[in-house]
Order: sequence, then structure tokens, then C-alpha cells
Amino acid sequence: MTSLTISTPCDWHVHLRQGETLKTVAPETARLFGMCMVMPNTTPPVRDIDSLFAYGRECGNALRQTPLRAVFAIRLDDRTTPELVTECKKLDWAVAFKLYPDGVTTNSHGTGLTTDVLWNALTDRRSRLYEVLVAMAECRMVLSIHAEAAGLPYLQSELAFLPWIANVMEKFPKLRVVIEHISTVEAARMIRADTTGRLAATVTAHHLLLSCDDVFGKPDHYCKPVCNTNEHRSAIRELVFSGCENVFFGSDSAPHPRSRKTPSCCAAGVFSAPVATETIVGQFVEVGETARLNDFLSRNGCRFYGVQPPTGSVTFIDQPFRIVEASTHPDGFASFLSGQKITWRAADRPASQWHREIE
Ligand code: DOR
Ligand code: ZN
Repeated sequence: MTSLTISTPCDWHVHLRQGETLKTVAPETARLFGMCMVMPNTTPPVRDIDSLFAYGRECGNALRQTPLRAVFAIRLDDRTTPELVTECKKLDWAVAFKLYPDGVTTNSHGTGLTTDVLWNALTDRRSRLYEVLVAMAECRMVLSIHAEAAGLPYLQSELAFLPWIANVMEKFPKLRVVIEHISTVEAARMIRADTTGRLAATVTAHHLLLSCDDVFGKPDHYCKPVCNTNEHRSAIRELVFSGCENVFFGSDSAPHPRSRKTPSCCAAGVFSAPVATETIVGQFVEVGETARLNDFLSRNGCRFYGVQPPTGSVTFIDQPFRIVEASTHPDGFASFLSGQKITWRAADRPASQWHREIE
């Protein structure tokens, strides 16, 4: 196979950041995607109508010359109200509330969603979070979850969070839930076993490619949840390549400057926008499942969220290129797979500043 055409893809989980960083990284997502869901863990976070509109405007300006449509997740925290949920539902560009357990990842401090608060909400009908979940279920606002229990060894934290998700699905029978960037056998199993159609997962390129052995000593590979053992990675690969319809791509592309990606100061996040899609295409070709690529990259997410998919298509050709070396970005952003040769490239699309021709 030397070329492959898919419908314009969607990235259902991306960190576009703010200010100059936003201006630098947004074109990388706009290069290939027709739609993306932008995460709210900014400073200050996107957690009310004012911050949502301000951030929506900032992203809109950065994307003005591009065909990329951005939709947004709003941070769910201990001050979110049912009224905010219904207000946001009226906007067709606010499509999910994102739950971060307090402190588990970059800029997730101060959500107030401790283990006690989360579990209490499942039984205490007068708690704020219970009322918010009722409102979300009623108006079909998606609950997007960073599924890690706080205070546990990293490789156990996702598994420990899954019982809360199972409970919330049962207590709120209309609620639609996405487990973000799954990293375990158990999460993959839970998606497969779901019979309600209300439970979905996003999968990143790096969780398909890396195991925990690839993370030790490699700050650029450190993210939350951390890539788990090969057994877990294989289960996620099987789920994705099996064509499960409630599984879709979310890059979790999360740039951090090089000065924050050193062994002594290591922020969680893999900046994958320059290479994630090309890598996903390569993976599907390698396992012979290209017939399922379109659903994973372009269709499943839109169906789950109930949004119109972008129009058009992208053609990938078998013409290798290289990702620039991390060292060429003194305090810029090192791309995932820096220095490596990548087989598939998008034809007729704007160039990425992280790509180089092979000499
Ligand atoms: O690795 C991660 N980085 N995981 C997240 O959940 C947040 C993200 C970031 O914002 O850097
Ligand atoms: Zn993320």
C-alpha cells in the first residue's frame, strides 16, 4: 500500500495552552484535524462562562486562518453548579465537563474533587456534585474523566479509579461518560463489556506505542496516566484495532517547554501533535486494519458526542520524513518521537515545523 485516504480526522482531547504557546502549537493540530476538543486545565482554568468565552476567543483567534473547529471541555470542580451545566449546553461548542481528581496531573490542583468528595456524591443527593451529575445526565452533557485515584503508585491509579466510574454509570443511568487516555487492561475490558452505549474511551498514540520501560529516564515520554506495562499496552491495542465503536482518538498532545522536561523538573505531558496522526496511520497499516482507521480517527467520536463530523478528507502517502531532534529546541517544545523516522505523511497539507525531509 502506498496511499490511504480517510475522512478529515478529529482529536477528541488536546491541550492547546495559551498565549505564545497556543500560537505555536495550534497550527500543528490544525494541520490535519477538522475538529478538536480543547482541555480546560489552563491558568486560570476554564471553569465558568466568563473563562469559557475568554478562552474560546483566544483559541478562535489562534485558529482563525485554519479550517479547524474547536469545541471545549469545561473543568468540573467543587464549585460547578447545575445552572452552569445547562448554560453551557446551550452552546454547541461546549460539549463536555472534564473531571480531574484534585492534583493528579498538570494544573489539576484545586478542583476540590478528592476521593471523599467523589464517593460522597454517589450517595448524598444534597451534595453539589450529585446535583451537577443529575443536570449533566438530564441534558446529555458528556462527563469526560481523567481516571486516576490520587495518592497511589502511578501504575495502579487508573485501576483504582474504575469502580467510581462503574458506580456513577449505575447511579446516573442517562449519563454519558468518556474515560480519557486509557492505560490499563481493566479500562479496556470495561469499555468492551459496556452494554449501555453510554461509556466511551479515548486512546493516545503514545499509549499505543510505549510501555513504562520507555518512560524511565525519558522526560519527553512522561505523562499522566503513565504508559503502563506491555500487557496493558497490548490490551489497549487490541481494543483499538478490534474496531470497538465507542473508542476514538484523543491525542492528549500536551506541550511543555524543555526547561520543564528535565529529570529534576518533569511536567507530565507528551507533545504529540506533530506526529500522532501519522503514527496512528502507521500502526493501523502495520496490523492490517486500515478498514477500521476511519472510524477510530474520524467517525466514532463525533457519533458519541452527537456532533456533525468535519467534511473533506486527508490522503496519507508512504513517503518517510524525520521528526526534528529535541536538542534543536533549546526552550521550545520537543515533539514525541524526536529524531525518529516516520513512514506515513499527509499529502497536500501545511508543513509541520517539527518535520524534516530525509537527506
Ligand atoms: O500528561 C498529561 N499532561 N496528562 C494530563 O492529564 C494533563 C496534561 C497537561 O496538561 O500537560
Ligand atoms: Zn489531557
